[in-house]
Amino acid sequence: VKKTSNSIDAPFSVDWVHRLRFTDDALEENGALDTLIQELTPAKTLVIIDNGLFSTNESFQSSLATWCKRTESLCDDPILIEGGESAKNDPEIANRVLHEINNHNLCRKSCVLVIGGGAVLDAVGYVTSIAHRGIPLIRMPSTTLSQGDSGVGVKNSVNYFGKKNFLGVFNPPFAVINDISLLHSLDERHWRSGLSEAIKVALIKDGELLHEIEKNKDALIDRDIEAMKSVIQKSAELHLLHITQCGDPFERLNARPLDFGHWAAHKLEPMTNYSLSHGDAVAIGLAIDLRCSVHLGLLDTSIANRVISLLQHLGFPTNHPELHNPDLLDGIEEFRQHLGGQLTLLMLQGIENPIDIHQLDDAIVRQAIEELM
Ligand SMILES: NC(=O)c1ccc[n+]([C@@H]2O[C@H](COP(=O)([O-])OP(=O)(O)OC[C@H]3O[C@@H](n4cnc5c(N)ncnc54)[C@H](O)[C@@H]3O)[C@@H](O)[C@H]2O)c1
Ligand SMILES: [Zn+2]
Repeated sequence: VKKTSNSIDAPFSVDWVHRLRFTDDALEENGALDTLIQELTPAKTLVIIDNGLFSTNESFQSSLATWCKRTESLCDDPILIEGGESAKNDPEIANRVLHEINNHNLCRKSCVLVIGGGAVLDAVGYVTSIAHRGIPLIRMPSTTLSQGDSGVGVKNSVNYFGKKNFLGVFNPPFAVINDISLLHSLDERHWRSGLSEAIKVALIKDGELLHEIEKNKDALIDRDIEAMKSVIQKSAELHLLHITQCGDPFERLNARPLDFGHWAAHKLEPMTNYSLSHGDAVAIGLAIDLRCSVHLGLLDTSIANRVISLLQHLGFPTNHPELHNPDLLDGIEEFRQHLGGQLTLLMLQGIENPIDIHQLDDAIVRQAIEELM
């Protein structure tokens, strides 16, 4: 503690444990969920579910019904909310969850269990973070993207003023359960969506994972669940270890390595009215930043081409008509504003060899885009 006659600077830290479980049957008796609930011993549990998952996945419906019957702390039937980006765009959805928390008198000793895609997890995580300054949350991500990336993070947010993630907080959940059996009902776009984030994190941190995705690319598009499970589990672990072990969990520094390829992705999503999935937008953003890395004289063109071909093979778009819209370039400044401080973008010099840059000329981005169109 630093103290003078008129100031006190008292540093403090709070210990967190980020709990992540991998399973193929989270709801079985004494399975991952029961064990975590026993550990938390909430007085009440409220369950919120992404309707996109619930309405398409019959095996989930029946195991949920069985789980609900035997779970004593459950305070109501599960509440269904609309999935996808509207969960974050429509303030009525967050409001409704707040009302449910209030109506059921949930408190900081209660638990909210949320099961769904990244958008529903983000919105419900935001609400549980602000209600009573934080109700413990168990997340069960149900898309490849949320299991491999967003669901294991510490960010919770909704869109506001037409801006993505404008309202939000850093707040780790009590636990995350990745249940691979939830994924089989995903449509094609959301089945692949976690793979662009896996490629992103592999490019920065794990060349072997990139090899694995290349080797298994046909199995991955043929919906081989074991192939997907391995990639998603490694991606989740790399993301979680980055957040918990790299010294900047709440993103106070300018550098955001996990946002490789994201300045363009974050701009393209609202520009296309969210018709592009986050995973597809990230694939396009990666393709742009790989080509930019080449034009900056940092990256061998053969590596950029190899990764872009892999993305295409997996079914991802690597261009879009909106890339010709000059508004796209505003995404660089918006990215800087969102982080505050100096512009910091990650580019690649090679696999597992990233570098931060602080300026990206429009001409280089335009050249990169021309090559992708
Ligand atoms: N918090 C973070 O750190 C972070 C990081 C990356 C992305 N995100 C956010 O995550 C969101 C994208 O999440 P997403 O890619 O998971 O998509 P999503 O949440 O938009 O869901 C996509 C669609 O799939 C449906 N769905 C979900 N699970 C299903 C299942 N098992 N079977 C059938 N349908 C199912 C949903 O209802 C929805 O219609 C974006 O809002 C993005 O900003 C957050
Ligand atoms: Zn992302």
